[in-house]
Order: sequence, then C-alpha cells, then structure tokens
Amino acid sequence: MEQIVVSGGRHLHGAVSISGSKNGTLPLLAAAMLVEGETVLENVPQIEDVHTMLQMLEALGVHTRFIGPGVLKIDASDLRSIEAPYDLVRRMRASFYVAGPLLARTGRAEVPLPGGCLIGNRPVDLHVQGFKTLGAIVSEDSGVMRAYCQRLRGARVYLDPRYRSLGATINIMLAAVLADGTTVIESASREPEVVSCAQFLRRCGADISGIGGSTITIHGVDRLQGCRFRSIPDRMETGTFMYAAAVAGGSVLLEDTLPEHMVMVTEALTHSGVQVDCGDNYLRVSRDRRPLAADIATAPYPGFPTDLQPCHCVMASVAEGKSIIEEAIFDARYNYTDELNRMGANIRVAGNMAVVVGVPRLSAAPVEATDIRAGAALVLAALAAEGRTHISGAEFLDRGYERLTDKLRGLGAEISRRSVEGKEALCWV
Ligand code: EPZ
Repeated sequence: MEQIVVSGGRHLHGAVSISGSKNGTLPLLAAAMLVEGETVLENVPQIEDVHTMLQMLEALGVHTRFIGPGVLKIDASDLRSIEAPYDLVRRMRASFYVAGPLLARTGRAEVPLPGGCLIGNRPVDLHVQGFKTLGAIVSEDSGVMRAYCQRLRGARVYLDPRYRSLGATINIMLAAVLADGTTVIESASREPEVVSCAQFLRRCGADISGIGGSTITIHGVDRLQGCRFRSIPDRMETGTFMYAAAVAGGSVLLEDTLPEHMVMVTEALTHSGVQVDCGDNYLRVSRDRRPLAADIATAPYPGFPTDLQPCHCVMASVAEGKSIIEEAIFDARYNYTDELNRMGANIRVAGNMAVVVGVPRLSAAPVEATDIRAGAALVLAALAAEGRTHISGAEFLDRGYERLTDKLRGLGAEISRRSVEGKEALCWV
C-alpha cells in the first residue's frame, strides 16, 4: 500500500495543467476496437485505469503503443478474442465497455460482470437490456455475461430516465454503430464523455445525430475508418483542483481545461463566496476568506456531478453555516464521511442526504481512501487540516489522477508519498 502524507494549513498559488479525461479516454479506447485499422488518440492521461484498459485491449488482440507523450496509436485490425479476462474486469468496471464493440465486430462477447463497489450497487442491467433490444441472445451465469448475435439490428432503446446511465449509453452506442438499421437511444446520457465518444465515432464514419441531447439516433454503417482524435480535459480533475483552492485558500490558475463543463461546480463555489474567473480554456479560482455553506444535489449532466460530491462535502465541512447534500446517483457514496468526521468534521448522513455543519478547522488524523473520488476529498481535507495527515490507499488516486501529488506540490502544498506494508485494496469503480 502507498500512503499520501500532507502537512496542512498552506495556501495554494500558481498554475496547474489539467490532464486528459479518464472517463473520456476509456470509452475512446473501447470505441477504437470498432475500427479495422489504426486510430491515434491524443491527450491520453498516464493513469492506472488507462493502463488496465490497454492490457484489456491487448488481451483481445488489439495492438497499442505510445508514439509520443500522451499520444497513443491503436490498431484493432487483428481483434481476435471474444473473451475479456476476469482479472482485468475485476480491477475496473469500465472494462465492461468492451462488450459492445466485441458484439458489433465479432457477433460474440464473453465479459465478466463487474461487481459491487464502495460507492454503491453497480449493476449493468441497462447495458444487457440494450444488447437484447438490439437482437443479441444474452445469458448471465457464474458471473459472466455471454452475448451472441449474427448481426445486431437497430431498435429503439429506452434507458432509465432517473439515471441516464453514462456507461449504458456508451456501450449501446458502440454496439449500434455497425448494426443493421437505425437505433434510437432514449433517456441517453448527456455527459461530455458521451459527447466526445460520439464525436470520435462520427469522425470514424459513423452516422450519429442528437449528440449531447437525451435522444441519440444512430444509422448503422458497414465499417469505420481510423482517425486522429484528442481526449477532452478531465472535468473531475478540474473540479478537484477548483475545490482544492476553495478549501486550502489562495489563488490557482487551471489551464488546458473547458469551463463550459464546470458550470454547476462554478455555481456552487460562487454561492460559497469563492471567486471563479473563466476563460476559453482556463479557470482561475481564488479564495481569501472562509467559504460559506452551499447546498448541492447530484444529478446526471448538466446537473452537479456525483464524482465531485465528496470534494464539495469537504468544502462544506470548513464553511460558515450548514450545508445539505443530496446524492441522487449512487446509494452508498458517503463512506468517506466517517473519515472526515475523524478529522473533526461534523457530518450526519441519513439515507442519501448528508447534513454538514461547518467547523473553523479540521485536524490531522490517519484516514483511508475507499475509492478514487473519496481519496481526492481526503487529500483536500488534509490540505486544510491542522497537522500532518496520513492517507492510506493512494493506489486509488493513481487510477484516476495523473501525478496528483506532484501537481499539488507545484502549487505550494506540503505533500509526499511513502510505501507502507499491507494488502492492496481493490474496488469496482
Ligand atoms: C460513470 O460510471 C463514471 N465512470 C463514474 O465515475 C460516474 O460516477 C458515473 O458514470 C456517474 O456519472 C466512468 O465513466 C468510467 P452510470 P457508470 O451507468 O457508467 C445505475 C469515477 O470515479 N445503473 O451513469 O458506471 C448505477 O447503479 C467513477 O471516475 C443501473 O442501475 O455510471 C448508478 O446508480 C465513479 N444499471 C446510476 O445508474 C446499469 O446498467 C448511474 O450509473 C447502469 C447503471
């Protein structure tokens, strides 16, 4: 296990460049499986989840190699296996994205079912239902989904409007682009990561309309050609650094990002008295006095992103007043609040609601990350805490953040990493 050690109480100053999006890049890697030829992706982040997905692609016969910093060449001409290895799927839920392309390219897919997770129940029933609606015969036994279809047929797919599942939208879109006929996905996800994947597919020759809306229409084509495409900036990393400045104080310039993806986060910070200035591809976040309490409710995009709910909770923990947080996406995304309360926060959780009464200052305590975003929140809490905080489970952060400790150190944080004994924790996220 690796620990992150933070000595809190220092303001942050300077500029940080935002890396390519984890949740934007993973769908592109799966989508590249649809191309019988070469694809080049730019702005690919060097993070564990990307490395896991590249191992998955190699296991399926897809060749991948970096030809420059963040520039990845993918050749799926020799896609041969239909079976996704269990030890890779168990590491990362997004591996399930290979199911759609395997079905579309080979007519068969055998993919282990992702398990539960410390942020809640994570079924893939909407993915499976979508494959069945497109004509696949699907069985699920002994933890593996087996799907078979000579040629998928376009159809109207209804996703659950409560969730507008990002993953299900991606997987069904990837299955439908080579299907016979027209597919309409209702209650589709509008997340920027879905928009980016649809734009990639269109550049490869797919016939997709309604991109960015709740109804996506796909007219199947016979084949896709390779293209060159740039992964969008990581909006979760952007939000994490926005909240880092709000929690630690100071003034931070976030470069190479897209402010239009951050509207709800900017709103929440502005309500807290934090200064947010936006440019075309940068944001400056400044905070010179204690933040004010601000309520949030998570929702599918363009609502407040569930992945930044923990970071908002940290800011609320040190804000003036009481904040109410409603988590409407996942049914167990408050595990980290026990760790924050051990640092002196005053958070009470009841069902999917959290009531946070701000305290003037948190204090250092040994804490443990249980998923990527909980880990990021604990780092932010440590930045604001009195004393030196040891955060176990740094491996989670490596899954989703490129050089997080280096970037924070570059902004003036006193932060380092150290190895400790102990089993590596695994989680489906
Ligand atoms: C994606 O997960 C992200 N992961 C998550 O980020 C993010 O929290 C989530 O979307 C919500 O925005 C990646 O993009 C790799 P969903 P995904 O399908 O696709 C339910 C991170 O830290 N649901 O939109 O799995 C589900 O249980 C991760 O980067 C079903 O019921 O999320 C949840 O309650 C954490 N059946 C809701 O929908 C299904 O078949 C939203 O899930 C699929 C989902």
